[in-house]
Amino acid sequence: MNTNTVWHNATITRAHRERLNVHRSAVLWFTGLSGSGKSTLAHAVEEKLYQLGCRTFVLDGDNVRQGLCSDLGFSVEDRSENIRRISEAARLLVESGVIAMTAFISPFRADRQKARSIFPHGDFIEIFCEASLAVCEQRDVKGLYKRARAGEVKEFTGISSPYETPVSPELIVRTGELGLEDCVAKVIRYLEQRNVFREGLSSTDETRPGIGPRIISDH
Ligand code: ADX
Repeated sequence: MNTNTVWHNATITRAHRERLNVHRSAVLWFTGLSGSGKSTLAHAVEEKLYQLGCRTFVLDGDNVRQGLCSDLGFSVEDRSENIRRISEAARLLVESGVIAMTAFISPFRADRQKARSIFPHGDFIEIFCEASLAVCEQRDVKGLYKRARAGEVKEFTGISSPYETPVSPELIVRTGELGLEDCVAKVIRYLEQRNVFREGLSSTDETRPGIGPRIISDH
C-alpha cells in the first residue's frame, strides 16, 4: 500500500555523506545456515572496519527478531517479510553513508534477489557463509538443531525448511573450515578490490544518484 505520499528530495545526499567518510557505503549481505557463523563474521568484520576508521552497522537476525520483526515467525511468508524489512533498513543505512552488514539466514533466493534489486548496482555484496549442515548441527550453539530434530522447533532451516544455496554470490567464505581471522581477511581483501575504501573513490561517485521514489510493486 502506498497512499498519498510524495517523495522529499534531500539536499544532503549519500554522496555528501560519503565524502565525510574514508569509504563508500555498501551492504554486506551475509547468508548461510543457522550456526554457520554469519553474526560472528559480521561483527568481526565490523571490528576490523572500525579500526580502519569506517562507519558501520550490523543488523543481526536474532536481535532484529526481538524488535523490528518481533511479529514474524519462520513461515515462508514471514521470512520473506523479514528479509524485505531488513533490506529496507539496510538501504536507509547505506543512504546514510555507512557500511551496513546483515546477518540473516535469508534462505530463499527470490528474497535475496528482491533485496539486491533495491540497491544501486554494485552496492549489494552477497557473502555466502559456507558451512555444511553437519558442521552447523555439530556446533549447535543454541541447541536448536537438537530441538528441531526432536520435532520441537518447526520449519527449521536445513532440517524441515530449505536453504537455497546462493548461485553467484560476490563472495564465498568457508566459515565451516577457516578460522575467523582468515574469514575476516577474505572479506576485507574483497572490499579493497572493490574500492570501497577512500583511495578507490572515483570522481563518478560524486554524481551517483541517491535513493529516490520508486514504483512500489506488490510483494
Ligand atoms: S530468516 O530465515 O528469516 O532469515 P533469521 O536469520 O531472521 O531467519 O533468524 C534465524 C535465527 O532464528 C536462527 O539463527 C535461530 O537462532 C532462530 N530460529 C528460531 N526458529 C527458527 C527456525 N524455525 N528456522 C531457522 N531459525 C530459527
